[in-house]
Amino acid sequence: MINKIEELKKEIESLKADSAEAAEQLRIKYLSKKGILSQLFDEFKTIPNEQKREVGQALNSLKTFVKEKINELKESFDNKGDEGPDMDLTLPGTSFELGGRHPLSIVRNEIIDIFARLGFTVSEGPEIEDDWHVFTALNFPEEHPARDMQDTFFIAQGPDVLLRTHTSSVQVREMEKTKPPIRAIFPGRVFRNEAISARAHCIFHQVEGLYIDENVSFADLKQTLLYFAKEMFGQDTKIRLRPSYFPFTEPSAEMDISCSLCGGKGCNVCKYTGWVEILGCGMVDPNVLENNNIDNKKYTGFAFGMGIERITMLRYQIKDIRLFFENDVRFLKQFKSVD
Ligand code: PHE
Repeated sequence: MINKIEELKKEIESLKADSAEAAEQLRIKYLSKKGILSQLFDEFKTIPNEQKREVGQALNSLKTFVKEKINELKESFDNKGDEGPDMDLTLPGTSFELGGRHPLSIVRNEIIDIFARLGFTVSEGPEIEDDWHVFTALNFPEEHPARDMQDTFFIAQGPDVLLRTHTSSVQVREMEKTKPPIRAIFPGRVFRNEAISARAHCIFHQVEGLYIDENVSFADLKQTLLYFAKEMFGQDTKIRLRPSYFPFTEPSAEMDISCSLCGGKGCNVCKYTGWVEILGCGMVDPNVLENNNIDNKKYTGFAFGMGIERITMLRYQIKDIRLFFENDVRFLKQFKSVD
């Protein structure tokens, strides 16, 4: 019996468990009521009296040994969490290639920065709009062609729900939200039911500007836009304002800049005129102020709206507007600003 105990001791010494579950199985095998140790104690009762002392001691010490061993195995799993992560934190990490910003985002952020330097804040409005914010509040006559199905994507009719065709709708939302003085720009996506070509797309981006206060004049508008043009396209840039028409501004103008590619000498981008159109603008029509409960005797204002695609195409000499929406990485990779 002593031999048997010795052998068991060796067996137990080399026990291993690869999970808490396996350690529990070992406890059952050795220490449960029907386990190996219990059987040995039963056997112990049958051995001659003169051997009982020696065998009894060996048996008791074996029992303590098994208990300790199994506890040790179990604890090795209980303590797993305290031992820290089983990975090497000193290994160098996996590096990821950093993406660049989309060129439209780069230019939009630049526009925001330039106007921020003049004290303009930034607001946004919804892309899905109603007739009031896109047309009626902006003084569009009842039968104005811009309301036509051909230009506007309608979602529902009567009452009309539509995709905004310009960011001027956010002018109205800003006037509802705040009292003058208002000095803010509104970047955003706009939608027009137009055939897609190298120069036009049915989805594009605009930045709208609105400035309302006492004594705001056309000279303020002109100076603000001249500052913008020089910051955006270089200090040598000249501007020119041509009379135009928008229902929500009076007088209205379109602004050209001297061609940033040929410096005004004439090239195929400016169609050999030396000038390229970049935005629409004007003094806020008094009717628009009235529609938005702003005292048009006390306040005047100016507004402008520009297409971000247009400006980005001029900035980077991009010839086809569709490139902005195709997301071909070979195109996008060329614009690396990540801030
Ligand atoms: N909303 C006009 C457009 O989309 C641009 C504009 C904005 C003109 C503000 C004047 C004042 O063409």
